[in-house]
Amino acid sequence: MTDKYAVIGNPISHSKSPQIHAAFAMQTNQNMSYEAILAPIDGFTETVKHLIAQGFKGVNVTVPFKFEAFDLCGELSPRALTAGAVNTLSFNKNRIIGDNTDGFGLVRDLTLNHLHALEGLRILVLGAGGAARGVMLPLIHAKPASILVANRTLDKAKNLVDHFNKNTDCQINACEFAALNQPFLQQPFDIVINATSASLSEASLPIGDEVFSAKTLAYDMMYGCETPFMVQARGNGAQVADGLGMLVEQAAEAFYIWRGVRPQTAPVIAQLCSA
Ligand code: ATR
Repeated sequence: MTDKYAVIGNPISHSKSPQIHAAFAMQTNQNMSYEAILAPIDGFTETVKHLIAQGFKGVNVTVPFKFEAFDLCGELSPRALTAGAVNTLSFNKNRIIGDNTDGFGLVRDLTLNHLHALEGLRILVLGAGGAARGVMLPLIHAKPASILVANRTLDKAKNLVDHFNKNTDCQINACEFAALNQPFLQQPFDIVINATSASLSEASLPIGDEVFSAKTLAYDMMYGCETPFMVQARGNGAQVADGLGMLVEQAAEAFYIWRGVRPQTAPVIAQLCSA
């Protein structure tokens, strides 16, 4: 019997997840299928129930359904609970179990593929929406010296920081973009992560060039195009990465949850980069 999996989103035709999971399955000899499913904007729950009835074992969930997926779960992993969103569902008899592998994927991409041990580093996170929230806990667990969350709307950055600023040695602070130009920042950041959705509309962010240096890794969680953020960072000599590696690493973690086997990600990243 072939075990069935899928990714659900709207839109979904652009998704690289079927290609990634097919490569993982071939590499690890797993008898499984993985397809992309377009759910109507108001039809996420029905789509999931339909797939469960058809015997699917699990699904990945992407924009805009990660919060609805969270609400649907009978059981949540600690990282899904902290993120407040779910990107991986497992179906076990009548139970729906939710996890969130996005932050894990980001940290793994940074540390394994870009070779940045995060311990002791100064990290700037741009944005305070769902994407930023999803990566905060794994970033904190990697023990950076500090995380500064900068957002267009200061209150959202403050709320996010308040949520994570407990029981940690990491200094976590919030500011608005304008504050990034202030002298108190003193030195550029080691890693700048763009977790805003500004790149979707090709909007540039009002951040000063001072946050970048030749030693900075500028990481855009978007993938597939050179964003204004990446152009600005490159112009200031920073090392630049997009979110393709994060996409593959979060998929590998979902695959591990479902199949109990950890696939190699480097060949799959290389395959996607050369496509
Ligand atoms: P996601 O799930 O992708 O994080 P979201 O929860 O809507 O989506 O959050 C979007 C983030 O991108 C927010 O931090 C938003 O800033 P505000 O909180 O001020 O709305 C940020 N963002 C979106 N477009 C932006 C733009 N053009 N300039 C700056 N920040 C932007």
